Amino acid sequence: MRSNPRPVVETSQVTISKDRKGHKIINQYTIIKKIGEGAYATVKLCKARDDFYAMKVFKKDMLMRRRDFSNSADGRMVVTNALTDVYKEIDLMKELNHPNVIRMYEIIDDVEGEKIYMILDYCERGSLMDWNSNEHRFITPWTNKEISESQLKSIFRQLVLAVRYLHINHIIHRDIKPQNVLLTSKNHVKLADFGQASKFEGENDNIRKTQGTYHFLAPESITDIEHCSGRAADIWAVGVTLYIAVFNILPFSGSSISEIMNSIENDDLIIPNIRPISADLRNLILHVLDKNPRTRVTIEGLLVDPWLNSEGQPLMSLI
Ligand SMILES: Nc1ncnc2c1ncn2[C@@H]1O[C@H](COP(=O)(O)OP(=O)(O)O)[C@@H](O)[C@H]1O
Ligand SMILES: [Mg+2]
Repeated sequence: MRSNPRPVVETSQVTISKDRKGHKIINQYTIIKKIGEGAYATVKLCKARDDFYAMKVFKKDMLMRRRDFSNSADGRMVVTNALTDVYKEIDLMKELNHPNVIRMYEIIDDVEGEKIYMILDYCERGSLMDWNSNEHRFITPWTNKEISESQLKSIFRQLVLAVRYLHINHIIHRDIKPQNVLLTSKNHVKLADFGQASKFEGENDNIRKTQGTYHFLAPESITDIEHCSGRAADIWAVGVTLYIAVFNILPFSGSSISEIMNSIENDDLIIPNIRPISADLRNLILHVLDKNPRTRVTIEGLLVDPWLNSEGQPLMSLI
């Protein structure tokens, strides 16, 4: 992997204070407001001098209480806690250097402190989409209009470049979904949340363990996790994300985990009549959501896909 020309600042001292308006200040960062909440972390908007950043804050004691059981390559049971996973996330993020992947500027971790602070690129528009439980559909928090096909194309071209960058660098993301695809004010895409990501050695990207969000799991990771390619599973998740961005609904769903899994495994993919789409977009959706990982489009196939290449420079010239 290309080494990061602007290395991540690692700070082991935390000073917390308040400004005159009562805003909390953590080292040089003034906290402005909360912008997101995930399973393990809170994300805040903060400002240092004239620049805005996103600060992802982890609580160490809560992470340590969350245990995770998995199998190592030689079949041994490994017990980790979520704090170990956060340090894995941090190590992975330190290496990342791509315009469409969220960048970490600084990591603040006082050994004695209760929290870990990750300083990231701030994406003004937030997530590409969020689940709205009242409306029972995905919505675009950053616009009240439908995302046009041309906008969708620009977003997914950038997402494909991000995923290709990860895959050629032997990283699988394992949690690609609309909530983790972030947009800046200029509609630049930054893939975020490396909490589930992992590195693989050589060509063996078998994932062995079901991870990520149920609705985005690839069919083969439900039926045959032992022989499942992490890269193909990431492509499937890009497909689910694309489907949601086009139609605002999930391609496969259910009211319990087993129903969701059953739908992913057995239901036919339906292209709804919610909005008219071009034949090329329709073909792309069918190719990414191919249930057979062997015939599913690969990242190299996406780089030459007709729909993704019908506007802008050829993707191949951008890698
Ligand atoms: N850099 C960022 N800029 C803007 N919003 C962000 C940023 N990072 C995260 N968020 C928001 O916070 C949410 C949770 O962050 P994420 O990193 O996905 O945490 P988790 O690992 O807990 O899911 C995201 O879905 C997004 O809406
Ligand atoms: Mg997330």
